[in-house]
Amino acid sequence: MDQNNQRVVFVSCMLICLLVNFNTVVPQVEARAFFVFGDSLVDNGNNNYLATTARADSYPYGIDYPTHRATGRFSNGLNMPDLISERIGSQPTLPYLSPELNGEALLVGANFASAGIGILNDTGIQFFNIIRITRQLQYFEQYQQRVSALIGEEETVRLVNEALYLMTLGGNDFVNNYFLVPFSARSRQFRLPDYVVYLISEYRKILARLYELGARRVLVTGTGPLGCVPAELAQHSRNGECYAELQEAANLFNPQLVDLLGQLNSEIGSDVFISANAFAMNMDFIGNPEAYGFATSKVACCGQGPYNGIGLCTPASNICPNRDAYVFWDAFHPSDRANRLIVERFMIGSSEYMHPMNLSTIMLLDSRT
Ligand SMILES: *[C@@H]1O[C@H](CO)[C@@H](O)[C@H](O)[C@H]1NC(C)=O
Ligand SMILES: *[C@@H]1O[C@H](CO)[C@@H](O)[C@H](O)[C@H]1NC(C)=O
Repeated sequence: MDQNNQRVVFVSCMLICLLVNFNTVVPQVEARAFFVFGDSLVDNGNNNYLATTARADSYPYGIDYPTHRATGRFSNGLNMPDLISERIGSQPTLPYLSPELNGEALLVGANFASAGIGILNDTGIQFFNIIRITRQLQYFEQYQQRVSALIGEEETVRLVNEALYLMTLGGNDFVNNYFLVPFSARSRQFRLPDYVVYLISEYRKILARLYELGARRVLVTGTGPLGCVPAELAQHSRNGECYAELQEAANLFNPQLVDLLGQLNSEIGSDVFISANAFAMNMDFIGNPEAYGFATSKVACCGQGPYNGIGLCTPASNICPNRDAYVFWDAFHPSDRANRLIVERFMIGSSEYMHPMNLSTIMLLDSRT
C-alpha cells in the first residue's frame, strides 16, 4: 500500500467514523412512542413521587411483577399500558415524574397517569396531591419541549403525531365523587343523567386539547362495571349482585362517550379516537369467571372483610396464593391475568369491543402511512 492509498483509507475511515458517531449522537426514534393519561388503572408509578394516599408502592403490590417489587402499578403484576407496550414492541412507559425519564428514554413515550383523578377537578380531592388531567396535559407540553431539545422540533412533531395514546378516565368521577358519600355535593347539584351529560361535556374539552397537542391515534376506555368491584360488593351487595346504581352510571356514561368520540372523529374527519368497551370486556369474565379459568370474580385477591373489599391492600391483608385465579387483585383493580385478557380484546376484539377498529387493525393501517 503506497502512501496515497493509505491516506484514502484513512480519510474514508474518518468519514465513516464521523457518520457512525453522528448517528449515535442524534438519538433515533425506534418503536412507536406511547403516551398514557388517566387514573389508577393506567398509572405506572407517578403517585410514588407525590404526597398522596392513593399509592401502590409497597408490598404486596408488584408481587408478580418481573422484579417482584412494588412499582406504583395497581396490580399484582403488569397493568394495561405495560401489556399494550409489549404488543407494540416498546419498553414499558416510565412515569413522567420518574428521574429515569431522561435522554433517549423520553423517546419511548411517557406515562402521565395519576391514581385517584377524574374528568373533574373535584374528583379525588380526598387523595390530596394528585396530577389532575389538565396538569397531565401540561406535562405533555413540557415533555414535547424536552424532546425538542433532544431531536429537534420537526422530529418531535413526527414522534407525537405517529404515537399511540391511551386515555382512561371517568370511573373516579362516580366512585370518588358523585357516589363517594351519601348526599355528595355533586349528587345534590345534579341528577345522575345530568351529571353524566356534564362529565361528557368536560371530557370533550380534554380530548380536543389532546388532539391540539398532536395526538392522532387515541384509545379511549369507557368505564368498567363499576358496581361489580369487590369494594362495592362489600358495601352494597347481599348476595353478590352488582351495585345497581353504579352499574346504571356506567350504562349512562359509556354510550355517550362512544357518541362523543364519533362526533370528534367526524369533526376532525379521521378516526383519531378509538373507543374501547371496558365494560363489555370485563363483564365477559365477571359474568362467567369459570369459562376464563378464574375461581372468582367477586372476591379480591388482596384485602379484608366481605369480598376482601374493605380498606386498602396492605402487608396485613389476606393475600390469595394463586393470583391468576382472581379477576380482581384488590378492591378496585384487575389482576395481571385479567389485564391480559382485556388487552387481548384491545388487540383482536370485534367492533363490539373496539370501535371503529381494534389495535391490530390500527397497527396495520398506521404502518402503511
Ligand atoms: C380545572 O382546573 C384547571 C386548572 O386549574 C382549569 O384550567 C379548568 O378550567 C378546571 N376545570 C373545571 C371544569 O373547572
Ligand atoms: C380485529 O382483529 C382481527 C385480527 O387481527 C381481525 O380479523 C378483525 O377483523 C378485527 N376486527 C375489527 C372490527 O377491526
